[in-house]
Amino acid sequence: MSNNTLILGLQWGDEGKGKIVDNLSEDIDVVCRFQGGHNAGHTIKVDGEKTVLHLIPSGILHERSICLIGNGVVLALDALDKEIKNLKKRNITFNDRFFVSSACTLILPSHISIDKSRDKTESIGTTGRGIGPAYEDKIGRRAIRFGDLGDKTNLKEKIGSLVEYHNKLLDLYHQKPHDIDEVYEEVIRYEELYKSYCVDSQDLMQKWVEENRSILFEGAQGTLLDIDHGTYPYVTSSSTTAGGVSTGLGIGPKYIDKIIGISKAYTTRVGEGPFITELFDHNGKMLAERGNEFGATTGRPRRCGWLDLVALKKAIFTNSVTDLCITKLDVLDEMKKINVCIDYEDDLPVYKEFEGWLSSTEGITEYDSLPNNAQIFIKYIEDFVRSKASIISTGPSRDQTILR
Ligand code: GDP
Ligand code: IMO
Ligand code: MG
Repeated sequence: MSNNTLILGLQWGDEGKGKIVDNLSEDIDVVCRFQGGHNAGHTIKVDGEKTVLHLIPSGILHERSICLIGNGVVLALDALDKEIKNLKKRNITFNDRFFVSSACTLILPSHISIDKSRDKTESIGTTGRGIGPAYEDKIGRRAIRFGDLGDKTNLKEKIGSLVEYHNKLLDLYHQKPHDIDEVYEEVIRYEELYKSYCVDSQDLMQKWVEENRSILFEGAQGTLLDIDHGTYPYVTSSSTTAGGVSTGLGIGPKYIDKIIGISKAYTTRVGEGPFITELFDHNGKMLAERGNEFGATTGRPRRCGWLDLVALKKAIFTNSVTDLCITKLDVLDEMKKINVCIDYEDDLPVYKEFEGWLSSTEGITEYDSLPNNAQIFIKYIEDFVRSKASIISTGPSRDQTILR
């Protein structure tokens, strides 16, 4: 019997996945990323020290956990190098406990140029990290993969034809072309990463499952940003939902035993796209301020609004969520009235209003210690979406967590 857990976002990202993965990974053998790239920004807070991870799985702070970047991730070598160096400065070790799939698609500097110039006209509000263009090349079967660093002769040729293609696209946007030799040099600069961490990750997955190791799959972004099930075209370019685990790591769905879906007690969104419960009043401002709602990757202010239970219920279905996790409950502490959306009428939200609890829940670790009105609020959510809130987060720090 395997004992593997998937943790993913049920909204538009930034639900607090990093915090929860870190909290739960103490006794976990392996933590894996399976999709997305350094568009993600996962924040962990331990003993007052804040760590923001973009590519490296949020289990890295627990010395005994192995961390793997799976084939479904698009990999920016410079970003990975920087992240590893920063963590090494803090005496976090990587030898024999950090691995990257040889089948990861590489993000090249030309992908970033394409992403940025496109977004000027298409206005998705991407993170500008080259994510979409890299996934396009993966699906187009012309991508450079991490394992290609092992064969320099062919690598040069492959980069040559890909960058030539990119330059044609850039010409359409009246942008400067990239020099092929420079791109090659930029990739090969990180050969050491290849030598140190490149593996056949599917073989490893199989071995770990056979050894009955406990595995935690760390989602990036969130369900409403999924390429198929999100608010298309205002989405990211990967499968952020449960299905992404199997394709992004090469592990069958029967090895995912528990699926923890995370939702904030309200909603945020970065970038463009529809947001039915968005607030433009003092309540929205209060959520942004109390929740410190600025992107962990780009620093952009996050749009804020009430919790949408219709969307949440659907996301729970899409992902077969077995356990709900509600984060940032403490952010609502000073709200006199709290709304949740329970229906849509002509694209407008129908709200149910709750009395606020007007007392601090910050750092509470026992469910019974929550104010009565907070318990009423949570119970209503649980009944509406038919899922138990097994985890409730009451602050950014690892230990500010209720486990039920
Ligand atoms: P992720 O992308 O899902 O990992 O989430 P981010 O790290 O981008 O954003 C979540 C933010 O909320 C971070 O700044 C966290 O430190 C913070 N956070 C997480 N859980 C809580 C919580 O329960 N209460 C408060 N106040 N902050 C939290
Ligand atoms: P984590 O893992 C919130 C959003 C961008 C943009 C859209 C497409 O920290 O929750 P992309 O650069 O991926 O092509 O941008 O997706 N986006 C995120 N929003 N959290 C994230 O990651 C996000 N990653 C991408 O803002 O709207
Ligand atoms: Mg984030």
